[in-house]
Amino acid sequence: MNVLVIGSGGREHALAWKIAQSPRVKRVFVAPGNAGTAADAENVAISATDFPALIRFAKQNEVGLSIVGPEDPLARGIVDAFQAEGLKVFGPNKAAAELEASKVFCRNLLRRADVPGADYHTFKDAGSAIRYLSEREDTPIVVKADGLAAGKGVIVCDNRNQAIDAVNEIARNKVFGEAGNRLLIEEKLVGQEASVLAITDGQTIVTLQPAQDHKPANDGDTGPNTGGMGAYCPAPLVDDDKLHWIEEHVLVPTVHAMKKAGRPFQGVLYAGLMITNQGPKMLEYNVRFGDPECQPLLMRLKTDLVDVLEAAVDRRLDEIEPLEWDPRPAVCVVMASKGYPGSYERGFPIRGLDEAATLPGVKVFHAGTALKDGRVVNAGGRVLNVTALGDSIAKAKLNAYTAVKAIRWDGAWCRKDISDKAFR
Ligand code: AMP
Ligand code: GLY
Repeated sequence: MNVLVIGSGGREHALAWKIAQSPRVKRVFVAPGNAGTAADAENVAISATDFPALIRFAKQNEVGLSIVGPEDPLARGIVDAFQAEGLKVFGPNKAAAELEASKVFCRNLLRRADVPGADYHTFKDAGSAIRYLSEREDTPIVVKADGLAAGKGVIVCDNRNQAIDAVNEIARNKVFGEAGNRLLIEEKLVGQEASVLAITDGQTIVTLQPAQDHKPANDGDTGPNTGGMGAYCPAPLVDDDKLHWIEEHVLVPTVHAMKKAGRPFQGVLYAGLMITNQGPKMLEYNVRFGDPECQPLLMRLKTDLVDVLEAAVDRRLDEIEPLEWDPRPAVCVVMASKGYPGSYERGFPIRGLDEAATLPGVKVFHAGTALKDGRVVNAGGRVLNVTALGDSIAKAKLNAYTAVKAIRWDGAWCRKDISDKAFR
C-alpha cells in the first residue's frame, strides 16, 4: 500500500523512515516534508493544513493510510475531513484532539477521571485571574494559555508579580492570540519530567517505552523554553512499575473518560508527566507523537509500525502482538540554528551529513532543512535530530555526539548534556 505522512519535522522524517521499512508499503509520501524526507521518501508540495489538496492527493495516489504528525491539523479536524471522504487516517478527530487543543478541557476531564495532576483554577479574563493571584499565598505558580501556542503558552513563575505579568501578557496583550481567551493557573510541581506515549484505538492501549525530552535551550535545563532540544529512550526514571502505574492510573482512565464524554480517542496519547515525590502527576496531554521523542522511540521499535497504526485505525489493536524493542537505548540530539528559539537566519549549507550517516547505529533525521541548488541548507530553528543507538545510554550518547561533530554549518549549536538526566 501507499502511505502519506503529513508534516515536515523530525518526527515526520522518523515516521516516514520507519514506515518505508515495512514490507507492506510500496510508496511513502510526505506532505510537505523536508530535505531528509525527500531522500527517504517522496515529498509532496502540499501544506499540512490544506485538507482539500491532501485529500485529492491521497485519492489520486492510492494512499491506503495517512498519518498526521503535528497537532495543528488535528485540532482543525483533518481526521474528520479524511474520514468524510472514506480515507483511512491515523490520529484523533477534532473533538478528541481537544485534549491537547484546550488545556482547560483536558484538566477538567482529568479531574473527573481522578487522574493525579497539579491543583488548578481556570479563568475567562485577566481581572478574575489577578484577583485570585492577589488573594492566594505568594508562591511559585504556573500560568497557561488554554489553546495551542506552538508549545510556548506556558509561563512558569517564581512569584505573584511574575504571575500577574504573565496573566496580562496572555489575557490582555494576547501574545498567544485566541489561545489566551481562557487561562489556567496551577500549582508548580517539582520533579523530573517524563513522556509516556501510547497508541490507542479507543479501547485497547499499547504503551510505548518511556522517554524524556529536554525543553530548555541550554545545558542543565537553563535558558528559554524550546520545542525540545533532545530526547532519549528508555528513561530509567520511569521503571516498569511506574510505567504500569501510569497505564492504570492515567492512560486507562483517560481513554474511558474520553469515551464517556462522547469523544472516543484514536491515535497517540502522549502523557507529559512530572515524576514528583508523591508519584507521577499529569502536566498535559498531546494527541500525537512527541517531537523529538518520536525519533529515539522509532529507532528502537522493531515491530512494523504500519501494522500497529492500521490496527488502531481499524479498532483491532487487541489483535497486535506485544511490541518488540531493540534493547539498546537511543539518544537524539537536536542541532539548531544560531538564534533559536529566537529569530535566526536560514539558507546555510550543511556539510558532513554523508560522513555522519556512515557512523554505526546513527540516523540523522531532518527537521528544519530544505534543498537549495541541490544542497541541504538549514530552513528552521531545530534543524537536525542526530539519533543513535548504543549498548548503554552513555554509549548511545557518545555515538550521537560523534555524529554531531561530523556535521557543520554556520551557527550550528546543540545542548551537550542530552541524556545526562538519566544518571541523576
Ligand atoms: P505543558 O505544555 O503544559 O507541558 O507545559 C510546558 C512545560 O512547562 C512543561 O514541560 C513543564 O516543563 C512546564 N510546566 C507546565 N506545567 C507545570 C507545572 N504545573 N509545574 C511545573 N512545571 C510545569
Ligand atoms: N516534545 C514535546 C512535544 O512534542 O510537544
